[in-house]
Amino acid sequence: VTALIKKLFLAGKMVNVNSELPFDEASEIALEYNCIAEEEEKVDVIEELLKEDEEDEKDMVPRPPVVCVMGHVDHGKTSLLDAIRQTKVTSGEAGGITQAIGASVVDVNGQTITFLDTPGHEAFTAMRMRGAQSTDIAILVVAADDGVMPQTIEAINHAKAAGIEIIVAINKIDKESANIERVKQELTEYELIPEDWGGSTIFCPVSAHTKEGIDNLLEMILLTADVLELKANPNRKARGIVIEAELDKGRGPVATMLVQKGTLHVGDYIAVGASHGKVRAMTNSRGERVTEALPSTPVQIQGLNTVPDAGEIFMAVDNEKEARTISETYISQGKEKLLADTKQRMSLDDLYSQ
Ligand code: GTP
Ligand code: MG
Repeated sequence: VTALIKKLFLAGKMVNVNSELPFDEASEIALEYNCIAEEEEKVDVIEELLKEDEEDEKDMVPRPPVVCVMGHVDHGKTSLLDAIRQTKVTSGEAGGITQAIGASVVDVNGQTITFLDTPGHEAFTAMRMRGAQSTDIAILVVAADDGVMPQTIEAINHAKAAGIEIIVAINKIDKESANIERVKQELTEYELIPEDWGGSTIFCPVSAHTKEGIDNLLEMILLTADVLELKANPNRKARGIVIEAELDKGRGPVATMLVQKGTLHVGDYIAVGASHGKVRAMTNSRGERVTEALPSTPVQIQGLNTVPDAGEIFMAVDNEKEARTISETYISQGKEKLLADTKQRMSLDDLYSQ
């Protein structure tokens, strides 16, 4: 060390034992001592997270479609899902307003569909931006008595930015003031043109109240999914996206995550943005305990050290050390950078300005 400091000092560099040298300079000096310097490989966590790793076609197996239900406030998204699931989520909501993204898995004639209900748009924007591949199909719910509204347009922009298929569900057709033709007309402005008008968008008139048209809507979803030939490799480490997360008084941080690739198991170590942990317990969308989750499956997990953000990408890793290193690097590299990167890649502003 003394020799090096002296050498650098004579070359006009004031350094001490804690100084860092640029790699080029260090390797030049190393050569003078007959050493070859090797640059330490820095794991760029952010690159790693955004990287779409190549998958071998032979490992891919069909997976269920992930469908998000979007649209203007009160147009009946949750009611429509209730009708599909034959449940009553809306009645349990504060003021009937959805405040989080609910995930549910529905069985339709032996075929599975994963639905994500969406509230207003904030959580969803983050999710859309980083999870371009998180959903395959968007159901755009437009109330037949209200027509295209600001959040309808926003939802269209989100779906287009993410490059996913849009199926239009014209809801509340049971209402006297319903005007299906007007909704169709209004949507033509956004390049959503019904098939019977020479376009290629599927329009399904439905009523969440009378259940009219629901079967047809489900059929259209499955048809669309068929064409997409959705596949994933279940035999690899899990990777996916956080749908929602919160701090539970008794259970600590709980996160609802959508597994997109691989299989997530109880006992797996995971890194999720700035959080990490070991999957201690997992419940499916019906609240049942499960030990593993295949691609396209939403699960709620416990075992993270902190509450991750919605839209964050999670990855299963080999051990605790790796999980911790990734989350620590993520923190030190700055979440802002990741956000900036992603925003740059798929900026909604770009879309609006086109
Ligand atoms: P947010 O999640 O807050 O954006 O609302 P939402 O789109 O989920 O709407 P929600 O399902 O909560 O329904 C809003 C209101 O519309 C409720 O009062 C529903 O009862 C009513 N509604 C939903 N679907 C129908 C329908 O098909 N017919 C009629 N008549 N009313 C409906
Ligand atoms: Mg709702």
